[in-house]
Amino acid sequence: MLQTLVLGLGRAGAALHLPALARIVETGLPGVFADHPIAAYDPRPVDLPHLPRVRVTGDLGEAMTLVDPGSAVAHLCKPPGSRLTLLEELARNGFRRFVVEKPLGAGRRELDRIGVLRRRFGLEVAVVAPWLAADLTGRLAKLARSGEFGALRSVTVNLHQPRFHRSLTDPEHTNACEVELPHAVPVVLRLAGPAELVDAEWSDMTCGEREIPRLGGASLTLRHDGGVLSRLRSDLTSPIRERSISLNLDHGIVTGYYPLGAEDDHAQLEVVSPHRSEREVFRDDALTAFFLRTYRAFRAGRPTGLEVHERAARLLIEAKERCARRGLVASNAP
Ligand SMILES: NC(=O)c1ccc[n+]([C@@H]2O[C@H](COP(=O)([O-])OP(=O)(O)OC[C@H]3O[C@@H](n4cnc5c(N)ncnc54)[C@H](O)[C@@H]3O)[C@@H](O)[C@H]2O)c1
Repeated sequence: MLQTLVLGLGRAGAALHLPALARIVETGLPGVFADHPIAAYDPRPVDLPHLPRVRVTGDLGEAMTLVDPGSAVAHLCKPPGSRLTLLEELARNGFRRFVVEKPLGAGRRELDRIGVLRRRFGLEVAVVAPWLAADLTGRLAKLARSGEFGALRSVTVNLHQPRFHRSLTDPEHTNACEVELPHAVPVVLRLAGPAELVDAEWSDMTCGEREIPRLGGASLTLRHDGGVLSRLRSDLTSPIRERSISLNLDHGIVTGYYPLGAEDDHAQLEVVSPHRSEREVFRDDALTAFFLRTYRAFRAGRPTGLEVHERAARLLIEAKERCARRGLVASNAP
């Protein structure tokens, strides 16, 4: 049975992974999770009194002794761009199964190196992708495939939220392509197939006298192999929050609304066609579903579907490069 070591106890590790894992372990899943405390590591002191089954240490060497590397799943919850050293150290110490926060890598070098380490050590890597495990995504895929509304023509994704405080105080993300879009790119690839980048753009955030480069918003246009066009937009200065995806089919529009946060994990699905007009609301705890699916795949030795994440990460890297070139051209304009 599988044990857990969570590395990095910021928002992703401490507020998302650990509570979800603790909830799953409490409900008791015979055959998947070992009856063993969850181990966790962060180089800065972290206190988690609300999670009594988690053993936290600030020493990586000690953290690795708290679990059996051969049957452990290591969750890498530190930001991309600096994960490689940790991944390599864990692999050298016998860890083989990894859950990595999205995106898989922030640059081409990092992605290539992860590929090298995977092959050299025989690593199984899953990227955190709650929306791929979401009931909503499953229903959208089923409706698109059903033929009831004809062929899929285009996909529109809106990921809007005000993000002034975090952008002003936390330097972790340096551009809007890295904030919300990594959730959605794997979903459109899953729904409409492999794609190439058509266009990408980012904008600055303005707040009073302050201007934060590249963090105002981003948009991507993708052309999928079958001809479907996807347009993804993320406005991080928006006064309202929205996480929606619309499938435009020959004879109807299907729109899904992902939950806006863990405080209300309900999704909505709206279908509008000449013969049908309805809205459905249902509970969709996608993160829990993702962990369950991933641990079961690890336990059974099944693939975790990494290819879609490699493709998504490469598209996002290409998008960032294109936006940067566009900025360079604009700043050199007479
Ligand atoms: N914040 C979110 O809502 C959110 C949601 C989903 C995914 N993510 C992704 O999760 C990743 C982490 O984001 P975050 O928001 O938790 O960042 P964060 O800055 O809140 O936390 C990062 C943590 O990693 C720790 N850390 C630094 N070096 C480390 C090392 N060598 N070993 C172990 N821990 C180390 C830091 O001390 C810090 O506690 C990013 O890739 C992000 O895209 C974040």
